[in-house]
Amino acid sequence: MAEEKKLIKVTIDNISIEVEQGTSILNAARMIGGEVTPPAMCYYSKLKGSGGKCRTCLVEVAAGSSADPRPMPKLVASCRTNVMDGMIVKNITSEKVIDARKGVVEFLLINHPLDCPICDQAGECHLQDLGYEHGSNETRFEFDRRTFDREDFGPYIQLHMTRCILCYRCTYVADQLTNQRVHGILDRGDHSEISTYISKAIDNDFSGNMIDVCPVGALTDRTFRFKNRVWFLKPVEAHRNCEKCCGKVTLWNRGNEVFRVTARKDQWGEVVEWICNTCRFEKKATSDWVIEGPTKVSRHSVISQGHYLNQVIPNDPLPKVLNGRNPKLIMDIHSVSEVNRPEIHLSTIEGPPHSDDYKNKPGGYTALENKNG
Ligand code: SF4
Ligand code: FES
Repeated sequence: MAEEKKLIKVTIDNISIEVEQGTSILNAARMIGGEVTPPAMCYYSKLKGSGGKCRTCLVEVAAGSSADPRPMPKLVASCRTNVMDGMIVKNITSEKVIDARKGVVEFLLINHPLDCPICDQAGECHLQDLGYEHGSNETRFEFDRRTFDREDFGPYIQLHMTRCILCYRCTYVADQLTNQRVHGILDRGDHSEISTYISKAIDNDFSGNMIDVCPVGALTDRTFRFKNRVWFLKPVEAHRNCEKCCGKVTLWNRGNEVFRVTARKDQWGEVVEWICNTCRFEKKATSDWVIEGPTKVSRHSVISQGHYLNQVIPNDPLPKVLNGRNPKLIMDIHSVSEVNRPEIHLSTIEGPPHSDDYKNKPGGYTALENKNG
C-alpha cells in the first residue's frame, strides 16, 4: 500500500495552503497561483537542478516554522527553499521583496541590451515582463554594456550572447535531453559566457528545446528570426505522428503559412512536452499537421491582442442576400498591384524578408521600376 504523504501548512501573502513535505516555496505559491507566485527566470520545473541563479524569486520568510517561528534574517530564493510546517512567507506583501526585486531587475539589465524593438523574443520575453512589472524606470549603470558577436549553433539555432542572463537553463536541457552536451558557461564573473568554445554545431535531435527554455532572446530559431512579430501570429495546437517525440506542438500561423513551430507551454511559460528538431524546424506546411484548435493565450499577453477565441461576430446579412451564390469580386488586387504577391511565402525566405526578395520575381519591383522608367 502506498505510504500516505504528510501534508504541511504554509502561509504565503496571508493565503494558507497544505502541501507535501519537500515542496519549494515557489511551487507552493504556484499552487495558490496569481500574484502570490514569485517570478522565476532560471528555475524550470522540468529541468533537474535548475534554479538558484537569478534571484528574481526572492521572498521574505516572516516565520520559519511553528517549531521555530523566528524570521529568516535574509530574503531567500523561493525556488531553492523548501517549506516547513507553519512557515509564513511574504511575497508581494513585503516591501523588502519589492525593493530587492527592483534591484535584481536592475542587475539583470546591467548587461542585457534594451533592444526589444528589434528582438525576436519581444512579446514573449520573461525579462521584458519582469522589467515592466518589477523594474524601476531608470538605471544607475553608467558604463558600456558588454557585447558579443552573434554565433550560430548549427543550422537552426543562433546565440546572441549579449542578451544572455546566464540562467543555465539551456545547459540543463543539453545535459538532460541530449546524450552529449557540447556547450556550456565558460569563464567566471563578468567574463562568463555561453559558448561551444570552438563553435561546434549542436546537432542533437532535441537541441531546439534550448530555444523554448531561454527566458530572453539569447537563443533564437534561425528559421524564424525576423520573419514576424509574435503578436501578429495566431498560435494553434496541432499534432502529427512522430517517431522521435510526442509530436504535440503549437503552430504559429499567419494566414495559411506556418511561420514557426514550438513546444506547447503551460501557464508558467514552461514546455509541457519536449519536441524534436524535425517537428520544430522541418515541418512548416499546414498539411504536415492535424490541427486541433486555437491555443489559449493569457489575456495579459500581448499575443492575445489578436485573439480569436470567444469572438462575437456581428450578424452579416450578405450570405442571406446572396442565397448561396458567390459574390463577384469588385477587384482582384493581384491583377492590378505587384505587392503582396501570393506566390511569395515569407516563411520560406532565407533570413529576414527584404525588398530584394521581391525583386527579380515576375511582376516584382524591378518590373515595376522598368515600367515606370
Ligand atoms: S542562452 Fe538563454 S537559456 Fe542559455 S543561459 Fe543564456 S539566457 Fe539562459
Ligand atoms: S528562479 Fe529562483 S533564483 Fe532564479
